[in-house]
Order: sequence, then C-alpha cells, then structure tokens
Amino acid sequence: MVIAIDGPAASGKGTLAKRLAAHYGLPHLDTGLLYRAVALTMLDAGFPLEDEAAAARAAEALIADRLADPRLRERAMGEAASRISAVPAVRAALLAWQQRFAGNSQGAVLDGRDIGTVVCPEARVKLFITAAPEERARRRHRELEGRGETTTFDAILADILARDARDASRATAPLKAAADAVMLDTTELDADEAFEAARLVVERARPH
Ligand code: CDP
Ligand code: CDP
Repeated sequence: MVIAIDGPAASGKGTLAKRLAAHYGLPHLDTGLLYRAVALTMLDAGFPLEDEAAAARAAEALIADRLADPRLRERAMGEAASRISAVPAVRAALLAWQQRFAGNSQGAVLDGRDIGTVVCPEARVKLFITAAPEERARRRHRELEGRGETTTFDAILADILARDARDASRATAPLKAAADAVMLDTTELDADEAFEAARLVVERARPH
C-alpha cells in the first residue's frame, strides 16, 4: 500500500505522513529532505544555486547519510531547496530514488509536492493537505523558534507565499493536487484531528 501525501509548505504533510507510517507499519520518506540535501550540498561546496549542472551532479551523487543533517530543517534551506527543485535534471535524479523507496514490497508513505502526480501516480491513497497561509506561517514560526532559530512571523509568511508560488508555477512537476486526491484542509484541525481524518480515508481505500 503506497500512501501519497502532497501539499504546500508547512501544511502538516510531514507530521501526518509520520503518523500514518507508524500506524500502518510502513516506511516513510519526507521527499522535501532530498531537495533540501541537494541545496545543502551546493551551499557547502560553495556553488551558486543557479548552477544547474552542479545541482544535477549533487542530486545524482546524493547519499542517504546527508538526510540526517539538522541544518536541513533551517528556514534558509527550504528556500534554497525550492530554487534547485525547479531544475529538471535534479528532479529526474531524485525521481529514481523516490520510486525505488516506494517500490519496496510492503508499501510506503511519501510526502512532498508531486508524489500523487509524478512519483507514485498509481498510489492507492492520495491526500492533498492544505491550510490557510497565516496558519501555516504560525505553525512554522512556532517550530523554528522551538528549534532556537530566530525569525519573525511576517518573514515566514512571506517565505511561504513566495515558495508556494514558485513551486506551483514551475514547468516540471509543479505543486498540484492529483485529480484523484482527497483534499484535507487542516486550518482548523490539530495534528490528532488531521490524522483521524486521514486514517478514515485510508481505511476506505484499503482492500477488505
Ligand atoms: O511537512 P510540512 O512542511 O507540510 O509540515 P509539518 O512539518 O508536518 O508541520 C509544520 C508544523 O505544524 C509542525 O511543527 C507541526 O507540529 C505543526 N502542525 C500543527 O500544528 N497542526 C497540524 N494539523 C499539523 C502540523
Ligand atoms: O516542509 P516544507 O513543506 O516547508 O518543505 P519541504 O517539503 O521540505 O520542501 C522544500 C522544497 O523542496 C519545496 O518548497 C519544493 O520546492 C521542493 N520539493 C519538491 O519540489 N518536490 C517534492 N516532492 C518535495 C519538495
């Protein structure tokens, strides 16, 4: 059983994906980490983010160890990831990685922007998670402050809006709900309520 979860920045995809994976005993891949890791590799090596050939090489050489780096969660890395994620050769390299992960025999939960549309178009369950931008900015602000990063709500809201616009307008695999995705607006839902709503969607799709 593959569960595909997509949605804009800080909508709660990762939290939900982790909980569904634990509940159903499936492996989970936060695909945003792959793009963040490519961006971090570029920054560490001193390449400008506009260097598309270097970004493609970094994506092709990406190793799993890099995904544990705590710097991946920093605010600047989301922004940098969004820039390199528009490069088609980067997406092509990471697509193979993600499909290998999803293809393991028991199934998997993946969250990102293009899981239901491009990475796993045959997924049994597709969820598209949304929330009002102000609520998403509040959540991300709380999260980053909790991790000791000093930011302002306004700066994060601006980041989120710019990133959503860039992710939704790129030519290759833009942020978009699959035609057969179930939409879940979590503006008024806490993580428990979002999990319960998603669990009901999965139960309906499971073979009996
Ligand atoms: O993966 P994505 O960027 O979509 O979001 P996330 O990392 O799962 O969630 C961002 C923050 O919002 C986390 O700190 C979650 O604990 C919190 N959250 C929330 O307050 N209410 C929800 N319904 C879901 C997530
Ligand atoms: O957690 P948050 O939603 O803020 O970001 P993320 O999921 O870690 O993704 C960071 C950036 O990577 C996004 O803004 C996208 O540009 C890109 N990304 C993508 O293009 N495709 C994916 N499947 C996942 C992330």
